[in-house]
Amino acid sequence: MNESAIVIEHLSKKYQDVNALDDLSLQVAKGELFGLLGPNGAGKTTTINILCGLLKPSSGDAKICGYDVQKDPAKVKELIGVCIQETAIYPYLTGAENVDLFGNLHAMDKAALNNRRVLLLKKLGLSEDAKRRAGKYSGGMKRRLSLILALIHDPQIAFLDEPTVAMDPQSRHAVWDFLKELKKENKTLILTTHYMEEAEELCDRVGIIDHGKLIALGTPQELISQNKVKNLEEVFIKLTGRNIREES
Ligand SMILES: Nc1ncnc2c1ncn2[C@@H]1O[C@H](COP(=O)(O)OP(=O)(O)O)[C@@H](O)[C@H]1O
Ligand SMILES: [Mg+2]
Repeated sequence: MNESAIVIEHLSKKYQDVNALDDLSLQVAKGELFGLLGPNGAGKTTTINILCGLLKPSSGDAKICGYDVQKDPAKVKELIGVCIQETAIYPYLTGAENVDLFGNLHAMDKAALNNRRVLLLKKLGLSEDAKRRAGKYSGGMKRRLSLILALIHDPQIAFLDEPTVAMDPQSRHAVWDFLKELKKENKTLILTTHYMEEAEELCDRVGIIDHGKLIALGTPQELISQNKVKNLEEVFIKLTGRNIREES
């Protein structure tokens, strides 16, 4: 494997009597697009929140490019971008103003921010709506804007927690194309998704977690042939006993 971007070792998170994460160990290589899959309540968001320094693990540790997420949070924050499940946009600002606000929070140079705002709004199909108040955007547009906010500072590593959930097909394909471009730029991406066809199309490797434990790891093709099924959705059902769309 290439040099690791992310190293997770024996990570656990307990909430009262729930093991949200149970001894998870995992490595993600630099430049890899890694899919973290699992039924509702499996521990995907918990994992991402710990990796981003938003949540303290009960035990274990994680490193991003060699920096411990708990001991070096400032360094880690410079390296990562995060698109969390709760949309972080300001509804009274326009799309462009939201982008500028986030760019300024990252202390981006004005010219660099201008260029990047124009580029990302275009790539995610929001140029024409950039001057409208973001609160008036459709759900799919808000998710696309959230993605821009997460990536405005051009981070090496991005955590995207269900970036395409409830998106219309057109928005979803715009996001897929965008993620493929980021991959060409050798960015490391951790993606959680409910859509197995999305994971199959985009991910170099996937990890399936259930009840906080890693139950499968490999390329989509490896998991499909190991389990003697036709696609990743069938792998998922076979291993978790659940349909991905079922509520837990
Ligand atoms: N703040 C919390 N307090 C108590 N339990 C929680 C909390 N956050 C998550 N959990 C529980 O931890 C488990 C994993 O949740 P989560 O990581 O959000 O799953 P996923 O993102 O895979 O749907 C679930 O059983 C969930 O109910
Ligand atoms: Mg989640």
